[in-house]
Amino acid sequence: MDTRIASLDDAPAMSRVLREIIAHTGRDRPNDEAFVTRQYIANPSSIRCTVAIDDEGLVLGFQSLVRAEAGNRYDVPAGWGIIGTHISPRAHRKGVGSALFRSSREAVEQSGLKKIDAYIGADNQSGLRYYEAMGLQTYRTSKGIVQKVFTVE
Ligand SMILES: CC(C)(COP(=O)(O)OP(=O)(O)OC[C@H]1O[C@@H](n2cnc3c(N)ncnc32)[C@H](O)[C@@H]1OP(=O)(O)O)[C@@H](O)C(=O)NCCC(=O)NCCS
Repeated sequence: MDTRIASLDDAPAMSRVLREIIAHTGRDRPNDEAFVTRQYIANPSSIRCTVAIDDEGLVLGFQSLVRAEAGNRYDVPAGWGIIGTHISPRAHRKGVGSALFRSSREAVEQSGLKKIDAYIGADNQSGLRYYEAMGLQTYRTSKGIVQKVFTVE
């Protein structure tokens, strides 16, 4: 498994990953290629979007890191980072999320961000445990949502 920066050509595979997660969790969400391109690959607020690929180049998952703009829908303070992680259920618990976080962590260092938010469903145990393992701590809870923060020391 390896990681690299996402490119526009990755949109179909990233869209497929989102559909696989939806089929697995039953939680619907936008997933088409145009959304993936706009939200993750070519988002003007993007700091880095990393894909994880297997030995044959198949995309296993991705992690986006964007700069929080004023008035963002997660109510994250402007200037923080916002991180999101999406990995195919076929590849869970094999270190993919950890590898993606190493890439994002490198981008955090380069960008000068001091705080990174993760917005997680309160019933999403794997998401909660994953971000805790990556060093994030809960700073806010509301209506079925837990927000965790990574603080750059
Ligand atoms: C949550 C998610 C990103 C974890 O990715 P992953 O590739 O399985 O994570 P890793 O294998 O790198 O795990 C790293 C650590 O996180 C923790 N962790 C991850 N999944 C876990 C689970 N289901 N239960 C408990 N701990 C878990 C563990 O400490 C793990 O280390 P270990 O395997 O050595 O014990 C992945 O399951 C996913 O994409 N889920 C669907 C979308 C989602 O929930 N995104 C995040 C919240 S919005």
